[in-house]
Amino acid sequence: MTEPASPAVPTTTFADGSPLPLIGFGTGGARGPAGVGVIASALRAGYRLLDTAAQYGNETAVGEAVRRSGLDPAEVLVTTKVAGGDHGRGAARTGILESLRRLGLDRVGIALIHWPNPSRGLMVDTWRTLLDLREEGLVLHAGVSNFRPEQLQELFDATGQWPEINQIQLSPALPRPEPVAFHRARGIVSQAWGPLGTREGLAGQFALRRVAAKHGATLAQVALRWAVDQEIVVIPRSSDPGRQRSNLDLSAVTLDDEDRALLATVDLGEESAWDSREHEEW
Ligand SMILES: NC(=O)c1ccc[n+]([C@@H]2O[C@H](COP(=O)([O-])OP(=O)(O)OC[C@H]3O[C@@H](n4cnc5c(N)ncnc54)[C@H](OP(=O)(O)O)[C@@H]3O)[C@@H](O)[C@H]2O)c1
Repeated sequence: MTEPASPAVPTTTFADGSPLPLIGFGTGGARGPAGVGVIASALRAGYRLLDTAAQYGNETAVGEAVRRSGLDPAEVLVTTKVAGGDHGRGAARTGILESLRRLGLDRVGIALIHWPNPSRGLMVDTWRTLLDLREEGLVLHAGVSNFRPEQLQELFDATGQWPEINQIQLSPALPRPEPVAFHRARGIVSQAWGPLGTREGLAGQFALRRVAAKHGATLAQVALRWAVDQEIVVIPRSSDPGRQRSNLDLSAVTLDDEDRALLATVDLGEESAWDSREHEEW
């Protein structure tokens, strides 16, 4: 069966000017042989940014899917994340080297600190190690996930280096304007996890349904277009090849001011996002 042509995926840029697809694929939960199938299908659909983490237990599946795709590994930007148990200078280095072994890659496209875990007091040491690994060429881009503005500031004050990207919980239900503005002013790319607002019950919101019906689009396409229009990178996850394709092809969906005003009504407020001063994962 011939695969449909892959859509042209819009891109943004890191602070150093290198390109980054605005739509990537979330692989959380895609494990083992079935997971390889799901991720390989996403690559066939045209995704070239994959999001994994040591914590997801699926880096081997991600690496296998990239190999089976027949693509040059340099064409696929793989993001992985340092697990909470691997914070600290030596442990973070070992953690990334282990991720590379499981992925079967010589270098990782984007390496993030998964959560700041402030009670451990090791986020700056972990950040220094990611900077070292970037210097050594084992990591192309260094960033973080779930960092609040003051936690980003702490990394910068200690090292003089902003993370290149911060992956945070974000969707029309959690638009997070303050962190997004903080990132933008410092050249940090904003990336949205949970971009479909599944945890927040976004699909049940009348406003989203109305905008989707107006444009003949899916609810997911509206949520993703809303983020991409703000140069926020999205990483939707789907195990369904049809949904993988429709989530990647937003070319026919155009939002206007009226749509954006309607979508603003589903904002649950910053306090509804997971708070990384208290929520830790390790
Ligand atoms: N940094 C972090 O702390 C963190 C935390 C959570 C997640 N993440 C990353 O972010 C990625 C995405 O977040 P997420 O998995 O939480 O949520 P998500 O991508 O917003 O939502 C995924 C859910 O939406 C469904 N879905 C996908 N496309 C759809 C469509 N077009 N229509 C209807 N339903 C659709 C999927 O079901 P089907 O599979 O049936 O389509 C799945 O149940 C994860 O995979 C992971 O890589 C990072």
